[in-house]
Amino acid sequence: MSNRYPLIIFQYLCLTIALLIVFNATPAQSQLTDVNELMTLGKEVYNLKGCGSCHKIAGAGGDLGPDLTNEGNIISHDTTWHKKHLLDPQSVVPGSTMPKIDLSDREIVALTVLIQGLKSEELPRDVEGAIKMAHERLDEARKGIDEIKKSGFNVDNLEVKYVQGWTHLETINNMIYTHNLTGVYKETEEAIHIAKEIMQDVLSYNKALEHRVMQTIIFIVLMVIIVVLLFVKLLIV
Ligand code: HEC
Repeated sequence: MSNRYPLIIFQYLCLTIALLIVFNATPAQSQLTDVNELMTLGKEVYNLKGCGSCHKIAGAGGDLGPDLTNEGNIISHDTTWHKKHLLDPQSVVPGSTMPKIDLSDREIVALTVLIQGLKSEELPRDVEGAIKMAHERLDEARKGIDEIKKSGFNVDNLEVKYVQGWTHLETINNMIYTHNLTGVYKETEEAIHIAKEIMQDVLSYNKALEHRVMQTIIFIVLMVIIVVLLFVKLLIV
């Protein structure tokens, strides 16, 4: 038992040092005002450099560049990414058509703080509706596939598409979690698009099936006629 004490003392020592570091670090207050200052500067630079002539934030701005309303939700665009991007867009997005804008280091930091703060916490209603629709469409597609499967058609390629549709919807869940709305829009559209494609194929399968049924009916009718004719001939002779 006694050889445990040094460990316990060591643990308390670590804890004390950690607490000292936390409380003696740059006072939280000054960090906060710095962020606020950067945010204010970011907004000024955003207006001064005409970012809004190409980008929209919450409905206001131009259309040449992507909507930045939820830019802060895009996890792959971290602080380093934004700094590099603002310094030279082509360095992170090869072939980017966003112009290189003359910015000081502090302006770049300020814009990065501003952009990373652009997040909407709640999912807008229209996105929710779209996601629901995508689920319903895929369910419909599932039923369609099952139906034509019963008729003996090979539906392997439709099964593959169906799985692709679901993969998109599963990605959406992760994106909602990380508030990546741009991604959510894109994936929802993809899922709906795939569901539509499946339904189109189901439709053409059904047409082919109708065709088959018609052919069988015509064949049977012809056979009956021939048999009747033969019978009549036999009776006459
Ligand atoms: C002349 C139009 C134009 C101006 C001005 C402009 N941008 Fe852009 N920006 C674009 C275009 C176009 C893209 C997309 C480039 C691509 O991916 O090919 C873009 C991309 C971006 C992106 C990445 C968006 C994403 O999700 O892919 C950010 C962030 C951004 N711009 C911020 C800014 C900021 C901040 C300013 C002002 C300093 C600014 N832009 C000024 C046209 C512009």
